[in-house]
Amino acid sequence: MTEATKTNDLQKQIIDAFNFRHATKVFNPDRKISDDEFNTILEAARLSPSSFGFEPWQILVVQSPEKRELFRDFSWGANGAFNGTAGQLGTASHFVIFLAHTDATMKHNSEYQQQFMKEVKQLPDDVIGFMNQAFQKFQEHDFHIEGERQITDWSGKQAYIAMGNMMSVAAMLGIDSCPIEGFEVDKATEVLETHFGVDPKLYRPAVMVAFGYRAGEPAYDKTRRTTEQMVKWF
Ligand SMILES: Cc1cc2nc3c(=O)[nH]c(=O)nc-3n(C[C@H](O)[C@H](O)[C@H](O)COP(=O)(O)O)c2cc1C
Repeated sequence: MTEATKTNDLQKQIIDAFNFRHATKVFNPDRKISDDEFNTILEAARLSPSSFGFEPWQILVVQSPEKRELFRDFSWGANGAFNGTAGQLGTASHFVIFLAHTDATMKHNSEYQQQFMKEVKQLPDDVIGFMNQAFQKFQEHDFHIEGERQITDWSGKQAYIAMGNMMSVAAMLGIDSCPIEGFEVDKATEVLETHFGVDPKLYRPAVMVAFGYRAGEPAYDKTRRTTEQMVKWF
């Protein structure tokens, strides 16, 4: 096989996977993703990029049916109420909740960041000093990311990148997924604190994502704007 044929093959596989992926409403409850494949999906999150490399997200994989049910009442985007099914909550092989770090850990010069740069990034002290200054300027001056809400939302943006990578990798493995914002954040925060021991001062729910194998083919064909409508070249 020539290099050019290999590249064409790979491009086709990628585009096929992106066409295969759709926001799956109901999964086949009897089909489970293997540990091996799910670990690959998690690895895609772990290796995802993040602003300044701070990885401001935590991932909860909720496999206990009882724990999943705690979200049902207020998760209209995952409870299947609209189509009379058990929804993604009731049928997904793996159900993930992304938590976003709050200002407690993601405001410039936080204790957490010092530890993170030392232990995870293994940066020398002078580089850490430089990073602190650069990050403070970035938050206060460049991007105006100040205050609890803005910092938590900024963390959430990073979480979405990791989530996107997980869904793309899943699609390449023939695994379905659905990103989920259809829930009440305040109630989810409460459940997470009461039943999962998540301190809302440190973490807030950002987004959820379900993985599994589709129960049936999607009800609608994919619709998108054209590339010309989406992109302007200069
Ligand atoms: C951030 C985000 C949140 C979403 N929330 C939900 C949700 O709560 N429930 C749901 O069924 N679909 C949800 N979707 C799926 C979108 O409706 C879907 O991606 C879009 O309509 C395009 O369809 P496709 O993904 O099947 O191509 C969400 C998508 C994104 C990116």
